[in-house]
Amino acid sequence: MTTPPRLEVRDLVRRFDGRTVVDGVSLSIESGQVTCLLGPSGCGKSTTLRMIAGVDMQDEGTIHVDGRLVCDTVFRVPPERRSIGLMFQDFALFPHLSVAENIAFGLPRGSAARDRRVDELLERVSLAGFAPKYPHELSGGEQQRVALVRALAPNPRILLMDEPFSGLDERLRDDIRDDTLALLKEEGTAVLLVTHEPHEAMRMADEIALMRAGRIVQSGAPYNIYNAPVDRAAAAFFSDINILRGTVRGALTETPFGEFLAPGVADGTEVEIVIRPQHLKIDFDRAGRGPNPTPEDGTAARAKVERARFMGRESLVEFRMEAGGEMLKATVPGVFLPGSGTPMWLMIRRDRCFVFPRTG
Ligand SMILES: Nc1ncnc2c1ncn2[C@@H]1O[C@H](COP(=O)(O)OP(=O)(O)OP(=O)(O)O)[C@@H](O)[C@H]1O
Ligand SMILES: [Mg+2]
Repeated sequence: MTTPPRLEVRDLVRRFDGRTVVDGVSLSIESGQVTCLLGPSGCGKSTTLRMIAGVDMQDEGTIHVDGRLVCDTVFRVPPERRSIGLMFQDFALFPHLSVAENIAFGLPRGSAARDRRVDELLERVSLAGFAPKYPHELSGGEQQRVALVRALAPNPRILLMDEPFSGLDERLRDDIRDDTLALLKEEGTAVLLVTHEPHEAMRMADEIALMRAGRIVQSGAPYNIYNAPVDRAAAAFFSDINILRGTVRGALTETPFGEFLAPGVADGTEVEIVIRPQHLKIDFDRAGRGPNPTPEDGTAARAKVERARFMGRESLVEFRMEAGGEMLKATVPGVFLPGSGTPMWLMIRRDRCFVFPRTG
């Protein structure tokens, strides 16, 4: 017999005033696994989390924890009996309780194990000695770590986190994310983390569930989501993108960079070829001649630098194509900063292009 997943959500639907806000969401998370629910503001992430936590109830669908039904549209285990920890954006520690009392809040009273657990967790997040302090004496990052161990103290099977790092400044956030992740892995908790930041999802997730308008449009390992997006919007969610447009003739489409395969796409269909700026290659102009075509990079096309911006580790160079006048963006190592008007040749990594039927 195979063990059921730690958390399994099937076909969750939630409507508010006749509007479907969560539209058939299914997810499954194993213990020790971090899944990020990633999507733009208003797509239904927090609503999904609230239903799993049990503070809101779905209109359709089921929630199982370790194979046991926790909630359908009739039966409902109350939030405090679901073994689910919560950590929300405004993780508000109790201001009148010490750090130790905050962490011990959800633990059985008066046991020696309780004090041990508090000490062990404080040590684990490098806050040994902070037990008697009060929340107002702590920095934002320290408060965040206390909130994390408070949520983990009762050993929940599942931890739900809703934008837990958004109150912290950027540099601090990366460190705290890494520490948090290490602790979550040690504890073996199944984690569903909500974020609208792709960078955060890529850093934290074993699996990303990409959500849009109430639906999960794609899920998989960060590597797969990034390198095989299901559509143009999924590609655009993770980075700037360039788009080349074309029309399919005989499963091929013509571009300034040569022909592209569009297998299975009907003649006359308009397609978009999506390419990330880091997958454009540039080459110098040799008295009007560019590099020879290759199978990997296709034909080179001539373009002029429109403007170039230094961004630290890399530069962003914007080009205007000589044929057609389209604008394309390329990122190149930061030391290279060509003047505007410089003629150059562009090539695109054909294996990094995505061809989609045109939308919108
Ligand atoms: N109790 C409610 N009553 C009516 N509408 C609601 C309620 N809760 C949420 N909504 C609506 O449902 C939609 C999804 O909200 P939700 O909070 O789930 O979005 P989100 O993905 O978490 O967004 P954000 O990234 O901004 O936090 C929004 O349009 C919101 O206005
Ligand atoms: Mg939200």
